[in-house]
Amino acid sequence: MRADPARTALSPGDGAMILQRADELAAYSADGPNVLTRLYLTPEHRAAAACVADWMRDAGLATRMDAAGTIVGRIEGARADAPTLLIGSHIDTVRNAGKYDGNLGVILAIQALRRLTREGVRLPYAVEILAFGDEEGVRFPVTLTSSRAIAGTFDARNLDVADAGGVTLRAALKAFGGDPDALAACARDRARIAGYVEVHIEQGPVLEQQDLAVGVVTAIAGASRLAVTVDGFAGHAGTVPMTMRRDAGAAAAEMVLAVERVGHDHGVVATVGQMRFAPGAVNVIPSRAEFTVDLRSASDADRLGALAALTGAFADIAGRRHVAVSHAAAYEEKAATCDPALVAGLAAAATACGHAAEDGAALRLPSGAGHDGLAMAALCPFAMLFVRCEGGISHNPAEAITAEDAQAATDVVARFLKDFRA
Ligand code: HGY
Ligand code: MN
Ligand code: MN
Repeated sequence: MRADPARTALSPGDGAMILQRADELAAYSADGPNVLTRLYLTPEHRAAAACVADWMRDAGLATRMDAAGTIVGRIEGARADAPTLLIGSHIDTVRNAGKYDGNLGVILAIQALRRLTREGVRLPYAVEILAFGDEEGVRFPVTLTSSRAIAGTFDARNLDVADAGGVTLRAALKAFGGDPDALAACARDRARIAGYVEVHIEQGPVLEQQDLAVGVVTAIAGASRLAVTVDGFAGHAGTVPMTMRRDAGAAAAEMVLAVERVGHDHGVVATVGQMRFAPGAVNVIPSRAEFTVDLRSASDADRLGALAALTGAFADIAGRRHVAVSHAAAYEEKAATCDPALVAGLAAAATACGHAAEDGAALRLPSGAGHDGLAMAALCPFAMLFVRCEGGISHNPAEAITAEDAQAATDVVARFLKDFRA
């Protein structure tokens, strides 16, 4: 059902400004003007962070960068003793990303606060906008570093993980201007935090199917990521008979099909996103294959059941092919349920702004994608507002939203902030 236009464009121009800023921010990329890749603690992350900090100050917020590289913009509330509401998302991206995954949530939060500041609205509670730098987890084999630092759950052992170039997280943080020895100090006092709210593109087709600009998230799926290594025996591609090979590449290929089969059989989503062979020569039978597995489900039991089935299948394939297989858990997050009171607040704001489904209430839907809320759930109640994206496309440069939907989501967030009681 289309929104009631008379009731939504409360401050015409926010939507257009949000899209324009998303274009501006997308220019901070490692891969040139038309391919957006912005990994954690890189020069392009630094430049994007500086740009976002400028926008925060323009909206009336005081800004700082914390030890994990998160840009924090803060505006005090009318009541000095009131807790703080956190609102934000991530400004790191996947490779060859779309412009809105993560970035929209930060830009839109700034736009909503900018509007309230211009309207002279003084909220009774403080608000902090957080621009996280490590939600995608593409550069390092760990992720959610910046939100976990704020939640107080960052594991300091992760400081020694290294990127593909051998740069450790510790060294990268120092080079970026962060402080690996002060991450524990990023942790917030849960008694002073009223909650965490994130605006994010849906990255799925539901809102478009329902013809709705926004929806309210009920829960975020849990995820497991594995780094798998298969070791066989290198040989001459021309001379070793097919029956005498210990081909790590062919074994890994069969394991990739097992990932797909387990996904179907267990009702979870399972993906191999990265794979490489060594020594990587056209005429050498691979002695080693390395690949990643990403498993998701709203049900932790289903996800863990699928994981067990998968590692069993890997062992069977390795035995049959006389290769060795090992796997390391690179990431593990349980599913996280959004806070009912925050969900109700976002739903009420969406309905008040004219964005309700046929039943007259805002649509509620789960998130198959992971978000910083998975980490923030350890600190405080959290909730998310989804924004319709074209074709549900994401992690793809074709990612798109409309100015009208950006406007609608800004209206909803501004209304939520005005009505929220910390
Ligand atoms: O992988 C995810 O779900 C998120 O985009 N990092
Ligand atoms: Mn995201
Ligand atoms: Mn993403």
